Amino acid sequence: MTETTSPANASATQEAEIAAALGARSIVLVGMMGAGKSTIGRRLSARLGMPFLDADAEIEAAAGMSIPDIFESRGEPDFRDGEARVIARLLDSGSAVLATGGGALMRKETRDRIRTKAISIWLKADIDIIMRRVKRRSDRPLLQTADPAATIGRLIGEREPVYQQADLTVWSRDVPHEKIVDECIEALHGFLCGGRGKETHDRMGVTP
Ligand code: S3P
Repeated sequence: MTETTSPANASATQEAEIAAALGARSIVLVGMMGAGKSTIGRRLSARLGMPFLDADAEIEAAAGMSIPDIFESRGEPDFRDGEARVIARLLDSGSAVLATGGGALMRKETRDRIRTKAISIWLKADIDIIMRRVKRRSDRPLLQTADPAATIGRLIGEREPVYQQADLTVWSRDVPHEKIVDECIEALHGFLCGGRGKETHDRMGVTP
């Protein structure tokens, strides 16, 4: 009798291999607000059987107030200090999938910690998609400006060179979330287990 591997079995094997190769390291999702870090991160963690952590939610819990209130009452520099402290604590708390706020990676100490303790995935999104998504919510203090589209454009310009330093890049776009999760898993498997992760090949300039 010929043995066959169903797609579900193959993907379960890939997921188990990723979890084993990660060891004590975490997976950290980085990228602009609206890129889908929390949505994709939660689903990715479920697929990999790992805990999910959301840095913004943890910052709010630690401060006992919402992010807009932290910006309002303490200012952005204080928020950034708290953000760096919370991410350091979360990275020390064991292997997890961690969604970070869009500005977190701009701190060198946070970048260094992520590099040492995690595999990073940049969820990259076009400005049009970001704009469409951020318009649905009004809880992003950095976008309370006269021209939010110009603000987003400026932030993308400042941040993309830093996001590019992530280990992996996956395009976030308007397709079913599970497709983006599949692409994260494919990229992680390529990077950690020597599989054929598309973005890994792209980054290394190798034609698959
Ligand atoms: C910020 C992004 C937000 C939040 C804060 C600042 C940023 O998180 O941390 O409003 O600097 O881009 P999301 O990226 O989850 O929206």
